[in-house]
Amino acid sequence: MLEVEGISVRYGNVQVLWDESFDVREGEILALLGPNGAGKTTTLKSIIGLLRPFSGTIRFLGRDLSGMRTFDIVRLGISLVPEGRRLFPYLSVRENLLMGAHAVKGGGGIEERIEAVYRIFPALRDREGQMACTLSGGEQQMLAIARGLMSRPKLLLLDEPSSGLSPLMVQRLFEAIQRLNEEEGITILLVEQDVGLALEVADRGVILEGGRVVLEGESRELIESELVREAYLGI
Ligand SMILES: Nc1ncnc2c1ncn2[C@@H]1O[C@H](COP(=O)(O)OP(=O)(O)OP(=O)(O)O)[C@@H](O)[C@H]1O
Ligand SMILES: [Mg+2]
Repeated sequence: MLEVEGISVRYGNVQVLWDESFDVREGEILALLGPNGAGKTTTLKSIIGLLRPFSGTIRFLGRDLSGMRTFDIVRLGISLVPEGRRLFPYLSVRENLLMGAHAVKGGGGIEERIEAVYRIFPALRDREGQMACTLSGGEQQMLAIARGLMSRPKLLLLDEPSSGLSPLMVQRLFEAIQRLNEEEGITILLVEQDVGLALEVADRGVILEGGRVVLEGESRELIESELVREAYLGI
């Protein structure tokens, strides 16, 4: 579905991604893992067209995304739920959802879409008129994902959805992510700090260190690999 092929990215003179390659297969959850500063967010921003690699290509459903505007990439079916949620704090839940729909062609179907995301995240329906800043951390993350779903993505990019949440909220959130994948058929590229947790829900994983892919494989293989056990799981 998504082919990242040898991308290199720099901020000014500082290169942070070095010839990075991996694929996301239709229907899967792929975990993109690695320590702080490894280049995970940079990878997601490159996919959605917020950053331009200076070499390499990114293809989605066979189409080269190079030079495409973010707005058009969203229309093709990719949505990014950014690190730190980035909600509009003083807008209501409903208004935040509407902000996620602006790339949808025409205005039609928006009410149906809102209904659909309320079915996925029922807690949001009860808080429809409430300002986003008054939601709990877990509810805010649900809203950020729900907003990302408003553009009807085929591929959802999630950047550290669990950050700042209690273990119970994280568990609920990950159940919701699995439902999105299994019931709604949405392919997911999941960036996570919690490697054990991510590999529990993901089909496969890619490990990035210092802007380079150092390991990739089925989640089961990764959990058993020496690198993951020693460096990430501490066992
Ligand atoms: N706008 C920027 N200008 C300059 N350097 C940047 C910028 N954004 C990120 N970097 C640098 O690029 C490298 C990769 O950052 P990135 O945010 O992609 O890492 P990450 O894997 O998402 O880390 P984290 O787990 O902490 O979110 C880091 O060294 C970071 O300091
Ligand atoms: Mg990041």
